[in-house]
Amino acid sequence: MERRKFIKTCCYTAIGVPLLVTTLQSCASAYFYAPVTLNKNRLVVKKADFWQVKKDKKIPRPFVLVKTPGMEFPICLYKINEETYTASLLKCTHRGCELNVGGGIYSCPCHGSEFSIKGNVLEGPAEQNLKTFEIALDNENIYILQS
Ligand code: FES
Repeated sequence: MERRKFIKTCCYTAIGVPLLVTTLQSCASAYFYAPVTLNKNRLVVKKADFWQVKKDKKIPRPFVLVKTPGMEFPICLYKINEETYTASLLKCTHRGCELNVGGGIYSCPCHGSEFSIKGNVLEGPAEQNLKTFEIALDNENIYILQS
């Protein structure tokens, strides 16, 4: 390998590896899994977890995901406003793929079904709405009631 080509390759590697790591880290952190506790058959999430601090700025999160070790699919806890949240199981009702969250909807990567953040079918082939959960609130916490 020529010296010039070798140096060029090393430079691209030196720049590319950190860039790839940064990109992968940002992909991995795209969904925030909120710490959750179980209390009397209720999943408890802190309202404070809907905020993140980046460079000394408080930035709101529109949603957080919740998953405990016994759950096959996460629940998306979506904040509509201070007093209104929705909780939907991210399992597509068509054939059971895990849904993606983004753009204010849930979308299925398998066959393209789409659901509103309240869990209603917007686009097939899925015909049934998502499993949703009742929510209770107090000043600090959001309670996802499991039935
Ligand atoms: Fe989701 Fe088919 S499994 S659309």
